[in-house]
Amino acid sequence: MSEPSGAAGSYGVCAQAPGRVNLLGEHTDYNEGFVLPMPLSQVTRVFAARADGVVEAHAEIFDERMARKLGGPRDGTWLDYIAGCVWALAQEGIEVPGARFRIQRGVPPGAGLASSAALEVAVLRALRALYEIPLDDLRLALIAHRAEVEYVGVRCGVMDQIVASLGRAGQALFLDTRSLQCEWVPIPAGYRFKIVDSGHPRKLAEAGYNRRRAECEEAAARLGARALRDLTPGDMERIARLPEPLNRRARHVVTENARVLAGVEALRAGDARTFGRLMVGSHRSLVEDYEVSTPELDRLVELAMEHGALGARLTGAGFGGSVVALVTDVNGVALAG
Ligand code: GLA
Repeated sequence: MSEPSGAAGSYGVCAQAPGRVNLLGEHTDYNEGFVLPMPLSQVTRVFAARADGVVEAHAEIFDERMARKLGGPRDGTWLDYIAGCVWALAQEGIEVPGARFRIQRGVPPGAGLASSAALEVAVLRALRALYEIPLDDLRLALIAHRAEVEYVGVRCGVMDQIVASLGRAGQALFLDTRSLQCEWVPIPAGYRFKIVDSGHPRKLAEAGYNRRRAECEEAAARLGARALRDLTPGDMERIARLPEPLNRRARHVVTENARVLAGVEALRAGDARTFGRLMVGSHRSLVEDYEVSTPELDRLVELAMEHGALGARLTGAGFGGSVVALVTDVNGVALAG
């Protein structure tokens, strides 16, 4: 979504990309499973101009400017996400001479709403427009993912970058993270998803995330599978025989994949009650089997249910961040009960 110059002032182009809320399918993407995220109306906007030999950026939220020589190494700052996009393009054989950016971050960082993917996708959209790079939206998402994994150094799955790039407003994106096949599923009329930020920034998220990922890889290897995606509810007995906590980690992934498939069916049938029940089951599994929730997230889920939500769960990686609740919506007003 790039706009012509003019809208961008002294910058050549303006581009933007949304944050996301994941409705079902948590910690399944790095297990080659299914996810069901939806783009948010909050976007990160990026203005960009051509430059030579340098990646330079002004982040409005921090009122901070940073610059790095083209091809320079990561240094652990926010500039890594931007320089990483230029680096990842070069790895794909698309060399750009440099760029100057202004960043308006409308997706709050640390809330579990994929603010870094929004930033990466917006930066790549801006570069695509600035240098007229022929790049389709899926390839752009995969380059954004490469920037995050290989340059920034976070071993995330592909969900966030793909929904930031291919998401459609008001529709859930049913994504098979193995084949990368996408289907857009409308939300039944009369219902809405509401997000509540627990205000607790994610704690120890990176260490916990990487440990869960390693546990899943070990569980899959012990079960002789390429990925946990290849196991089904029929494999539960074998899964139960794995040592703790691998048995519970694998059980979460297998049941969560099944919940996504059932959730897509429920949305297609307009069955919000079933979808809500699946959300509650997902949260329980993230609490008991995957152990990525916090007391604040659990309390918010409870409160949402006490106030009439059809379902509620933590969204994103967990360890803090936000919950999402499914509520009825009459004439644009969310009603409890
Ligand atoms: C983070 C990662 C995603 C995904 C979720 C958990 O948002 O970036 O790839 O693994 O956690 O579902």
